[in-house]
Amino acid sequence: MSIRRLPAELINRIAAGEVVERPASALKELVENSLDAGARTVAVRLHAGGLELIDVNDDGSGMAPEEMRLALERHATSKLPSDAIDRVTSFGFRGEALPSIASVSRLALESRTRGADGWRIEIDHGARVSESPAALPPGTRIRVEGLFDKVPARRKFLRSPRAEYAACLDAVKRLAMARSDVGFTLDHDGRRILSLQPTDAPSRVAELLSHELDRHGVGIDCARDGLRLTGVISLPTFNRGMADQQFLFVNSRPVKDRLLVGALRAAYRDLIARDRHPIAALFLEVPLEEVDVNVHPAKTEVRFRDPAAVRGLIVGGLRHSLDEESQRSGVRDQAAAPAIWTTSESYERDFEQERPFATVRETQASFTPVGFVPAARGERAVEPVPSYPLGVARGQVAATYIVAETEDGLVIVDQHAAHERLVLERMRAAREGGTVARQALLIPEVVELDEPDCDRLEGATGDLAEMGLDIERFGPTAVLVRAVPAALGKTDAGKLLADLAGEIAELGGPLSLRDKLDHVAATIACHGSVRAGRILSVAEMNALLREMEVTPRSGQCNHGRPTWVKLAHGDIEKLFGRK
Ligand SMILES: Nc1ncnc2c1ncn2[C@@H]1O[C@H](COP(=O)(O)OP(=O)(O)O)[C@@H](O)[C@H]1O
Ligand SMILES: [Mg+2]
Repeated sequence: MSIRRLPAELINRIAAGEVVERPASALKELVENSLDAGARTVAVRLHAGGLELIDVNDDGSGMAPEEMRLALERHATSKLPSDAIDRVTSFGFRGEALPSIASVSRLALESRTRGADGWRIEIDHGARVSESPAALPPGTRIRVEGLFDKVPARRKFLRSPRAEYAACLDAVKRLAMARSDVGFTLDHDGRRILSLQPTDAPSRVAELLSHELDRHGVGIDCARDGLRLTGVISLPTFNRGMADQQFLFVNSRPVKDRLLVGALRAAYRDLIARDRHPIAALFLEVPLEEVDVNVHPAKTEVRFRDPAAVRGLIVGGLRHSLDEESQRSGVRDQAAAPAIWTTSESYERDFEQERPFATVRETQASFTPVGFVPAARGERAVEPVPSYPLGVARGQVAATYIVAETEDGLVIVDQHAAHERLVLERMRAAREGGTVARQALLIPEVVELDEPDCDRLEGATGDLAEMGLDIERFGPTAVLVRAVPAALGKTDAGKLLADLAGEIAELGGPLSLRDKLDHVAATIACHGSVRAGRILSVAEMNALLREMEVTPRSGQCNHGRPTWVKLAHGDIEKLFGRK
């Protein structure tokens, strides 16, 4: 076997596999170059999710013809003037992106420095096709067409234009958050998607994240040992089925670093279900010598000199802010606490008038979240206990658990888990009976979502209608809700649709929903459920217990956990060493 040097074109193709794996990664490299060139505005145009065309236009420094030729050569960069790879502040520095992209596409590079004429170079899959003068304003414009068209191995891994577009949108959003001082536009298939004026970081983040964060977000600003963390995170109750709304930055560089993602997750431990994810935009500032950005070809991962300090700051800082927030709402609710204490007279009255389960739904709107205000009632257990399998409600603990007394012991019910199951079973029964009751909204609700989410929901309109959820596309980034399943009662349509879109994305193929109706129904059911943290009246608790007794599979919540546990008299006696 003989050793040979690989031809430059082949090296570029190999590198292309690392740096540009899909349109979104090529787009990211190009926009980063524009930002490094000092652009004040960056205009991006895409066709077919970037598969047909990626066009990035900036008003940055521009390049002279000789620089343009160099830029298309491998490992040619203007960004490491002193070879100081440990002090990089630019996005780029490896000099790989342009030659890599040019080796797997048809690329036209046009550029003009101030006070000089413009120049144009065309490359076809690594080979120079032409050079000529070009008319353009100062700055740089790069058009990339037919990315990977001639690289079948790569083409195979590309997804639909829709999916590639979603990834491109994500890439632009991340860079736009990193550089709020720069203006951005994004057009897809001739439609204006983003139009962002230069502003400050909080306003830019607010423009690009869920508007709901105004109400459901917590601002972050903390510092320790020369590290600083700022940004916004969602309250634990405002979460998503996908971790796609987490935007993390280190020294203004968007990253998807495992250490940071893990720290974010750890901060929410015990506050959020394992399969749910917070929304976050977090900016970490670290002294340059504390972080190495040259560990990943796409530079989305970084290495910290002191990972424990970074993790400590994030977990500690976020946790502290979340705790403070929960205390604040706790204090607010404390004022209302006397009203939720019930005397034994009202207990008896409620019990006699035990009403069907529908009351629970009707009164849901008036439930108030109460943080950790104790809500248990101390009842004298003097009345004979009727022989219901799940017993008679004696009180509520931590606004989350119903404690009931049975003939032979006591039962503790997880109210949210139980109710979620009941809603799912009701929906399932209705579907099987072909009579899904829907509740038309008097005024259809407009829910704003990003375009890929709207596409997902639109693609599932028929299946969702079968479950009683009537929606309609309403412009590129909004969906109209006309009716919701009656089993749901009052619900937050915005949150429901965002979760459903996440669910659909995770289940894959847009119209494979039919087989997965239960999944979707479970997501819907979760929204109609009595949340943990809601005070229930005794009548409501008893109604819940009675419905559980007659509902199949009510012993397990939709996630497979038990909805209730029982301690028989014998078990209690054992606990106290009486037996
Ligand atoms: N939009 C642009 N405006 C000005 N110069 C650019 C632009 N894009 C690329 N360049 C020049 O081309 C060089 C090579 O770019 P690239 O291959 O992305 O490598 P890197 O960004 O790692 O230096 C850059 O260092 C820069 O000098
Ligand atoms: Mg670059």
